[in-house]
Amino acid sequence: MNYCALEHVDIEGKRVAIRVDLNVPVENETITNDERIRAILPTLHYCLNRNTEVILLSHFGRPKGVVDPKFSLRPVAKRLAELLQRPVPLVNQWRENFLSGQAEKKPKIGSVSLFENLRFEDGEEENDPTLAEELASIGDIYVMDAFGTAHRAHASTYGAIERATIACAGPLLSQEIDTLQKVLVSPARPLVAVIGGAKVSGKLEVLKNLSRIADAILVGGGMANTFLLAHGYPTGNSLVESDLTDLARSISRATNVPLPSDVMTSRSIEPSSKATLRLVDDVRDDDLIVDIGPITARQFASHLRQAGTILWNGPMGVFEFDQFGEGTRIVAEAVASSDGFTLGGGGDTIAALEHNGLRDHLNYVSTGGGAFLEFVEGRKLPSIAALEGRCGVKSRSQTSS
Ligand code: 3PG
Repeated sequence: MNYCALEHVDIEGKRVAIRVDLNVPVENETITNDERIRAILPTLHYCLNRNTEVILLSHFGRPKGVVDPKFSLRPVAKRLAELLQRPVPLVNQWRENFLSGQAEKKPKIGSVSLFENLRFEDGEEENDPTLAEELASIGDIYVMDAFGTAHRAHASTYGAIERATIACAGPLLSQEIDTLQKVLVSPARPLVAVIGGAKVSGKLEVLKNLSRIADAILVGGGMANTFLLAHGYPTGNSLVESDLTDLARSISRATNVPLPSDVMTSRSIEPSSKATLRLVDDVRDDDLIVDIGPITARQFASHLRQAGTILWNGPMGVFEFDQFGEGTRIVAEAVASSDGFTLGGGGDTIAALEHNGLRDHLNYVSTGGGAFLEFVEGRKLPSIAALEGRCGVKSRSQTSS
């Protein structure tokens, strides 16, 4: 991929606007996971060490172009200030403070501020050209470092990159791209993908692309049911996508997809539901498949022990309930103890790793959810497309005409 990285831009003494992804989980104004905030700290230190003024831009939730206090970035600004140990004001009136006559004002070196939720702006999600132009002109340099939002062609993730005088990729975005590229393009073999989650249809393109590059795909979660059905096994009351059985068969032909040989079943999915072990031939009409069984988990673990590279997305079952969580635990442990390069991505995968105390045992955990999946599908993410070729100085009039 040909794009300009922040390290190649002279930012000394400049005002740097950085699009970051601070869309973190918040409950009652309390951040329940600050990973995305921590993930941008190296970028911030890099810029601050080069005597810059830093302006951070992010979305939070989906407020659809209207101001909604529920989606304020205030708790995020507070957490960022704690982590950076310096004030991080939240800026509401950014047009008044940062656009009018800004060109003449000198950057406030060492200052870090966070603009209020970009999705309060009518036009952010529509990639409105006026908004994109405004965002592009806030700093001397526009840095795209929001991998988690790089799959959105919004004003801040696409239009502003096209229009900024200088636009480049931040270190977090570069790191995500390099790591995912390494796994997808030149992995240490065998490359074993572990793909779970609810439905095949949700990860159709992911499976298709991986079937071309992975040496094996271990399917779990609800997704495994469609593969079982495609190979003639009973799936009872489980969620299956019968219209996708042909595709499941074609994926099984394209690469090695070892099917579960035993599964945990239940009549309901409740905290108190009982789990029953069955061989895949013996699943009954009123059974719901809720996890892979112990023989399968051991088989999957043995595949994972041989792997040179592991890519993991999606749990093996309803791991939130202990009686349905053993398959995910055994797979998570096998991934965590692998000697190969291990990469995980997606909210459920991170939750499953955290649930089993293994979050820090992978070589790399992506900050992307949807963006991670689209990258694995082999799609060009809009922000990356916009960054390509945008290195060096370009007059704004060239792009706005
Ligand atoms: C995410 O959490 O996946 C990103 O922040 C993108 O959010 P969105 O799906 O609301 O665009």
